[in-house]
Amino acid sequence: MPLFFEVKMIEAHEGILNWFAREARSFPWRYDNPEPYHVLISEYMLQQTQTTRIAERFPEFISQFPDIEHLGKATNQEIILAWQGLGYNNRALRLRDCARQIITLHKGVIPHDYDALIALSGIGPYTASAILSFAYGEDVPVIDVNIYRIYARVLGNSDPIDANKSMITSFAESAFPKGHSSAWHQAMMDIGARWCKANQALCTDCPLQTHCKSAFNVQMITKKKEKKEPSHRNIPNRIWRGKTVEHLRNCSSFSEKKEILLSIILSDYANKEDTQWFEDIIIPALVRDRLIEYDIESDIISIAS
Ligand code: ADE
Repeated sequence: MPLFFEVKMIEAHEGILNWFAREARSFPWRYDNPEPYHVLISEYMLQQTQTTRIAERFPEFISQFPDIEHLGKATNQEIILAWQGLGYNNRALRLRDCARQIITLHKGVIPHDYDALIALSGIGPYTASAILSFAYGEDVPVIDVNIYRIYARVLGNSDPIDANKSMITSFAESAFPKGHSSAWHQAMMDIGARWCKANQALCTDCPLQTHCKSAFNVQMITKKKEKKEPSHRNIPNRIWRGKTVEHLRNCSSFSEKKEILLSIILSDYANKEDTQWFEDIIIPALVRDRLIEYDIESDIISIAS
């Protein structure tokens, strides 16, 4: 016996699918029966970076790496350079490694199986379900932060932080119309971007309005206490690592002398403390992530080859 809100959601199916057919946002990875490779790349990119940025960069990336084979052959340097502006640089290497695993373990075919997908480099539960749903049309629930927030609100948890996770995941199983997983979940993403936003709920025009227990009564998300990130000169080390790779990307030989690189990213002369921090924290982290190489003899840092 379906629960009250499962019934309410079933009543929403037709309207939402019709609305999505008319008003879906247009993106270069959204077309009928998309190639699994395009779904893999777009979902990998969308884990970190905004849709508008990805929409601009996706076509260029695909023309540089048109398929799994080309991506698998990319050197560290090539993929790090191509990833400019697309978020954490180590994700670029993970994506290339994922392509290599697909080539060696699955003969170049993106697996059509949750356990095989989740075993690949950089693919978590969300991306595995998104690939099954968007690329292979499988009837699986897809839950990203936006869909989680929408379902939490539909069920009356107007602040998703309060929501019971197992209740949301079991609701997600029943919420979508079977045979239409891809359209439904991408419709939810568009509703999350347009109306049911994290910091604003525009219930008046939301197509889920009459199906949502929190409509017109949404509390904004309680901010989780932010953990203090390791920083230097009041800027998180994560940003300094990004600046270091960014500078190397723009050098003619993709390399730079350590002291010069440090004063360029600091926009200042480096003092003893800066040098110590750069040598002890930033360089080892980037070397560990295989993003740079550091030649101690010459003191030259380069993008990993
Ligand atoms: N975010 C993650 N996947 C998406 C998709 N397919 N469309 C829009 N936003 C997304």
